[in-house]
Formats: sequence, structure tokens, C-alpha cells
Amino acid sequence: MKSDSVKCAGLATSIALATCLTSVLAGGNSSTERNSSTVPVSLTVAREGGNESSPLLYGVMFEVMITNLTKIFQGDGGIHGQVLQNNGFQGTSLGLTAYAPVGDVNIFQDTSKPVSKAITSSLNVEVPDGVTNYVGFANTGYNGIPVTGATYNCSFWMMGNYSGTINLQLVGSHSGSVYADHNLTVKSTDSKFTEFKTRFNTTYTPKGDNEWHLTFDGSKVAGSSLNFGLIQLFPPTFKGRENGLRDDIATFLDEVNPAFLRFPGGNNIEGLQVDSRWKWNTTIGPVVERPGRESDWFYPNTDALGLDEYLWWCEDMNMAPLLAVWSGKSYGDILSGPDLEPFVEDTMNEMEYLFGDPSTHYGKLRAQNGRKDPWKVDLIEIGNEDDLTGGCETYPDRFNQLYKAIHDKYPHITIIASHGNYSCLPSPLPKDVIIDLHLYRAPDDFVKLFDQFDNQPRNQSVMVGEFGCRNTTAERGVSWPYMQGSCSEAVYMIGMERNSDIVKMATYAPLIQHFGFDNWTPTLYGFDSAPDSITPTVSYFVQKMFASNKGDTILPVHSSTGFGPVYWVASKTGSQYYLKLANYGPEQQTVKVSIPGTKTGKLEMLAGPKYQGDTPYNVQIQTVTTSIFNGQGNYSISMDPWAVAVLAVS
Ligand SMILES: *[C@@H]1O[C@H](CO)[C@@H](O)[C@H](O)[C@H]1NC(C)=O
Ligand SMILES: *[C@@H]1O[C@H](CO)[C@@H](O)[C@H](O)[C@H]1NC(C)=O
Ligand SMILES: *[C@@H]1O[C@H](CO)[C@@H](O)[C@H](O)[C@H]1NC(C)=O
Ligand SMILES: *[C@@H]1O[C@H](CO)[C@@H](O)[C@H](O)[C@H]1NC(C)=O
Ligand SMILES: *[C@@H]1O[C@H](CO)[C@@H](O)[C@H](O)[C@H]1NC(C)=O
Ligand SMILES: *[C@@H]1O[C@H](CO)[C@@H](O)[C@H](O)[C@H]1NC(C)=O
Ligand SMILES: *[C@@H]1O[C@H](CO)[C@@H](O)[C@H](O)[C@H]1NC(C)=O
Ligand SMILES: *[C@@H]1O[C@H](CO)[C@@H](O)[C@H](O)[C@H]1NC(C)=O
Ligand SMILES: *[C@@H]1O[C@H](CO)[C@@H](O)[C@H](O)[C@H]1NC(C)=O
Ligand SMILES: *[C@@H]1O[C@H](CO)[C@@H](O)[C@H](O)[C@H]1NC(C)=O
Ligand SMILES: *[C@@H]1O[C@H](CO)[C@@H](O)[C@H](O)[C@H]1NC(C)=O
Ligand SMILES: *[C@@H]1O[C@H](CO)[C@@H](O)[C@H](O)[C@H]1NC(C)=O
Repeated sequence: MKSDSVKCAGLATSIALATCLTSVLAGGNSSTERNSSTVPVSLTVAREGGNESSPLLYGVMFEVMITNLTKIFQGDGGIHGQVLQNNGFQGTSLGLTAYAPVGDVNIFQDTSKPVSKAITSSLNVEVPDGVTNYVGFANTGYNGIPVTGATYNCSFWMMGNYSGTINLQLVGSHSGSVYADHNLTVKSTDSKFTEFKTRFNTTYTPKGDNEWHLTFDGSKVAGSSLNFGLIQLFPPTFKGRENGLRDDIATFLDEVNPAFLRFPGGNNIEGLQVDSRWKWNTTIGPVVERPGRESDWFYPNTDALGLDEYLWWCEDMNMAPLLAVWSGKSYGDILSGPDLEPFVEDTMNEMEYLFGDPSTHYGKLRAQNGRKDPWKVDLIEIGNEDDLTGGCETYPDRFNQLYKAIHDKYPHITIIASHGNYSCLPSPLPKDVIIDLHLYRAPDDFVKLFDQFDNQPRNQSVMVGEFGCRNTTAERGVSWPYMQGSCSEAVYMIGMERNSDIVKMATYAPLIQHFGFDNWTPTLYGFDSAPDSITPTVSYFVQKMFASNKGDTILPVHSSTGFGPVYWVASKTGSQYYLKLANYGPEQQTVKVSIPGTKTGKLEMLAGPKYQGDTPYNVQIQTVTTSIFNGQGNYSISMDPWAVAVLAVS
């Protein structure tokens, strides 16, 4: 993820500056005439010919991160299903964030009573003499807790002498209304932490400002204290997976039909220092054995969403995993040559964890962690944006070291280089390596790049591993996606799809944001702790339309005019034809389409005023689908200014 120069102006740290640099393949000159007349555009889609289209073209990019300006909570407090914040006191920055006493007690973070080697502190609840009622503590989640009316799973660890009832509640922080009230009986001792698990029903509330309470009979503890650790609360998860994804947020993503998932970063894999990089082997196994980490962006990651959870996520959404491995570059030191060797070995251990037979050391560990069969991972990226932040000079060597190790042992894997700057890549680049370009652009600049790939050599495959339109103006800053910007993304994607013989993969970024923590926009969709808060952006609809309607072959199109303001790309799978259209201009356009041999299907249309988009809790613009029929295969499509459309007929 990098920002842009306007947004970044005034940031003085090296991290901030580095993330603000941009690097992109040069645009090249427009190969087509632009024509802004409103005479109808006539398009005839050929039934044969054309090039193969990459089946992986449209995917999604995910990382728990972003710049220091931004805590958008994509993983914890986002797509991961666990809804209590600071639940294991991981990282170094949170203290008692999200905790509060309930009743007459004192609470503090107790480092003298670690829950495990990984979860190094717990919450001490000290009960004064004379207390006779139920007391305990609250957790306020990520700006609240969604209460959906479903059955929730809850677990916590406890230490201290206590035999009796624990009461769990979900309570409106302001209303005091009780949406869940559940007792369980525990028997806890002061010799060790014991885990307790339970389930309870909830009553739906549309409001998100709820908190979770754990209380116990204070009369039994008066004058003493109890310790609690690694508290977890899960609403139902996507596909019912344990330690899975928040169902509503994941389902909304599934509906986009992404073909691959790029994870775990992005900047997130790099680390502020070598030792704070994303470490695969601390993100596996029981959550109580995962230490989490202070992320690159000054808030902790619990790593409850770890390597295996990413891979289950991919399987559950039928996405190809694109796993990034650490390339030796942190924002502090950069390791290369002999210094990198132990880390190459660590990556090979990770590969054994993914692919090894249960008879191997790491393959056995994978099986113990719930996955007997090898994972299917065919795409590995080496690092992230290694042309930046001092990485350029050593990347060719670092890349070669990791490439050789991985490729020698696992030749089926396609390797991706983390950028497209040839002066920072090995020369020659090994055959079949894909380069990764990242672009955040203003609308007109995206449209200028429409032909970026038309004139690229056909022997170098490309991934656009991050792209998104940002309307960056000094006065207005960055805004949520709006029609002109999303239309420019559609134009750029049409350019990619036309060239999807070489553009193998593309992913909009970033993916999601929690409204309470949203100082980076745009994203594809947002939400907060209210159950019905999920709000798509207009870019969400563009991604969904494009990913859901793509053929396996790109078809030639004969046109009465050149590209602009109307842009198009046609494809087919068997007898199913798709035509994507974007009108990047202020005038209505009529597009007369002929697709011989077809007669029926649907038209999906996304249209709205230039500067309008959907905003949190307010979806004004969305895809409208209409049925379409014409015995001769001739269709007349009226495109509003800034509209994006897909015609799908057979
Ligand atoms: C490629 O990297 C070199 C070295 O850092 C830099 O000078 C050059 O501007 C970069 N080129 C592009 C297109 O970003
Ligand atoms: C782009 O067009 C300009 C002006 O016609 C020309 O000078 C330049 O060489 C062209 N660049 C490329 C990469 O074709
Ligand atoms: C635009 O297209 C119209 C109709 O095809 C044509 O008559 C006109 O000459 C074109 N204008 C330009 C500037 O190419
Ligand atoms: C197929 O690829 C060739 C070579 O790049 C290109 O000239 C042609 O326009 C492409 N055809 C389609 C339909 O995109
Ligand atoms: C990042 O944010 C934290 C907390 O908001 C702040 O203390 C720190 O100085 C910031 N760091 C940078 C590099 O801007
Ligand atoms: C907890 O109970 C055990 C066993 O009854 C006892 O030995 C111990 O002293 C108790 N601890 C406290 C703090 O009361
Ligand atoms: C939980 O137990 C307490 C103490 O026995 C009792 O007062 C309360 O009614 C119980 N709550 C539920 C929901 O059963
Ligand atoms: C939740 O409510 C349903 C329907 O009333 C009931 O069958 C189920 O046992 C309840 N589950 C729990 C965990 O209380
Ligand atoms: C909730 O608990 C039940 C019973 O232990 C278990 O079968 C289920 O998988 C759990 N669900 C989640 C999301 O953890
Ligand atoms: C993870 O791997 C590193 C390097 O191989 C090793 O030093 C470390 O002990 C491992 N950590 C865990 C938790 O297995
Ligand atoms: C692609 O072809 C060009 C020209 O033939 C050649 O210079 C280049 O090395 C080739 N690149 C790859 C990755 O094969
Ligand atoms: C986008 O930027 C343009 C140019 O500064 C500005 O006029 C427009 O209002 C911005 N749009 C939004 C939605 O902020």
C-alpha cells in the first residue's frame, strides 16, 4: 500500500515518506483515437478469434494494516469473527483499551500471571472486602459488539479459587438493555489457568453500541482477586468454521466472486524491524499459543487470523491463495546474502508446512493443526514493493536466493516479484515470473493508463496487485468512491481485461474498513458493530460486475469509433457472451451492440452522478439488472454519464 504525494505532504518520518513514493510502469502513448461525439457507438462482437483470458484475473487483496494514519481494522475487528478487542493484551500499545470494571472492583493488566508462553498477561479483577453482589468486567469490542440474534460462542481462561456461577451478558452501553444473559458454572483454582467454553442465545438489536460483561459472585472473592485471560466471543462464522470469519462481512465479499486472495500483505509482511515482520510460525496452532505482534502500524494484531485461517478462507470462497513470503526487507534493516540464509530456510519450513507429507516435521504440525492434506498454493510473492524503502539494490539477489530455493523444490509454484521496476529486478528475470504493479491514481490518470498494457511485450506476465482510484485534492483530501472514480477503475480494468493474456491477476485495494477507524479511503465496503451496517461503495459494485461476468476468451470487437468516452471489452465462455462497457464522460451515450447468434440475457447497469457515491448507511447507487431479449442479437444500450455496464447474453 502506498499513498500519494498530496495526502502524504507533511509527513516527515521515513516510513511515511517511503509509503508515499510511487512506482509504476510507464504509461505509453494512446494507441487509439479519442472521440467525444454523441453519435451512437456501434460495436460488433466477433464470435471467434481473440486471446485466452486469465481465469484468475479479478481477486482481492487483504492485509491487516495500513499507514500510521490508518487503523481500518480489516482482520481483528474486521473480517475475523472474534469481536472482543484487546482480548489477549497483545502488542505493546493498548493497555486496558476496551476494558472497564463492572461493580465495585479494580482491574489491571497483570503481567505476573501469563495465560501461556504466548499470551503474556491477564486481567486481574480485585474485589474489595464487603462486596456481596455480582461484579466483574466489561469489554466494549471494536466500538461496540454486533448482536445479531444468533447463538454466540464464548470462551475465556480463568485462574483463582472460585467455584460457582459466572454470568455473561451482552448489554447496550447507553440503553442498558440486556440482549443476552447466560449463566455457567465453573470450578477454577489458583494453581493454573483453566479454559471455559460456552454458548448462548442473543436477542437482535440494530444498534452496535453494546458491550460484553463477565461477572461472578463477589461475596465469594471479597478481599481477594481473580484473573481472566484470552477472552473470545464469536457470532456465527462463515461456513461455521471455528475461529472463522465474521459471517456477514465474509458473505458480502464472497458475493464479489473473487478468483484469488493476496495475503498477508502488503506492508504487513515487512515489519518495522526484522524481528517484527509477519512470522508464519507464530500464527498457527491453538490461538492461546499465538503471541500476536505489534503491527507495522502501531496497533496489535492478534494473529488469530493466521496462516491456516487464510487458507481455509480461500477454500471456503473458492479463491486461489497468493501467499507473500518475507524477502529480507523490513522498514529497519534489510538482510541479504548470507544474512538472509536462515530466513530462506524459514521460508522452506513454511513450504514444508504447506506441502509436506504428515511424515515430515512441519507437515505433521499442519496435520495436528487440523489440516491433513497439503494446502493447495500455486502462487507465491517474494516480498512487497521491494523497489522502495531502500530495497532496490539488493532485491535482485534476495529474489534470486528465494526464487532458487522455492523453485528447485516446488517447480509447480508460480513466483511473483514484488514490483515492476526493471532496475531493481534480476536480469534476466527467470521465465514465468510475474511482476506486481501497484497503482493508486486520480480518475483522469487511470483513464490515461487505459492502454498501459496494449504495447507491453507479450512474454512478461503482470499482476496489478493493488489498484484503486483516489480523488486526491489538497482541499478535499480523499473521499469514498464516487461514480467518476469507479468508472475510471472500470476503464482501467477494461484495459487489463483486453490484455489478460499478460495481465494475469488484478486486485483492488484496500478491501474493507470499520467505520469507527476509517482514516484511509477508499475501500470496497465498510461496516461497524451494528449488524446491518455493511455498506458497499460504488467500486464494490464495479468489482462484483467485472468478476462475476468474464469469459475465458477475449473476443475481437469491430467498432464504428475509437475508444473514449465509451470503452469496451468482450469475452465469451462457450455460447455465453459478455460485453463490459464504461462511459467515462459527461454525456449520455447510445451503444448499439451486435452479438450474432445470441438473443437473451441480462444487462447490469451502475449509474449515478459524477461526484456521487454510496456513503456509510446510505446506499443510493447500486447495480440494476434488467432482462434483455432480441432475436437478431442486436442490443441498444443507453449509457448515462459515468455509467458502467455489463451485457451478458447467450
Ligand atoms: C526504478 O528504481 C530506480 C532506483 O531506485 C529509480 O531511480 C527509478 O526512478 C525507478 N523507476 C520507476 C519507473 O519507478
Ligand atoms: C508519445 O507521443 C509523443 C508525441 O507524439 C512522442 O514524442 C513520443 O515519442 C511517444 N512516446 C512513445 C513511448 O511512443
Ligand atoms: C467522432 O465520430 C464521429 C462518428 O463516427 C465522426 O463523424 C467524427 O469525425 C469523429 N470525430 C473525431 C474528432 O474523431
Ligand atoms: C490478442 O493479442 C494480440 C497480441 O498482443 C493482439 O494484437 C490482439 O489485439 C489481441 N486480441 C484481442 C481480441 O484482444
Ligand atoms: C503513529 O501513531 C502513533 C499513535 O497514534 C504515534 O504515537 C506515533 O508517533 C505515530 N508514528 C509515526 C511514525 O507517525
Ligand atoms: C485456593 O485453594 C487452595 C486449595 O483449597 C488453597 O490451598 C489456597 O490457599 C487457596 N488460595 C487462596 C488465595 O485462597
Ligand atoms: C444467573 O444466576 C444468578 C445467581 O444465581 C441468578 O440470580 C440469575 O437469575 C441467573 N440468570 C439466568 C439468566 O439464569
Ligand atoms: C437457543 O434457542 C434455541 C431456540 O429456542 C434453542 O433450541 C437452543 O437450545 C438455544 N441455544 C442455547 C445455546 O441456549
Ligand atoms: C461453537 O461451539 C460449537 C459447540 O462447541 C461448535 O460446534 C462450533 O463449531 C462453534 N462455532 C464457532 C464459530 O466456533
Ligand atoms: C519459528 O521459526 C523460527 C525460525 O526458524 C524459530 O527460531 C522460532 O523458534 C519458531 N517459533 C515457533 C513459535 O515455533
Ligand atoms: C521478452 O522478449 C524480449 C524481446 O525478445 C526479451 O528481450 C526479453 O528478455 C524477454 N523477456 C522474458 C521475461 O522472457
Ligand atoms: C474530486 O476532485 C475534484 C477535483 O478537485 C473535485 O472537484 C471533486 O469535488 C472531488 N470529488 C469528490 C467526490 O470529492
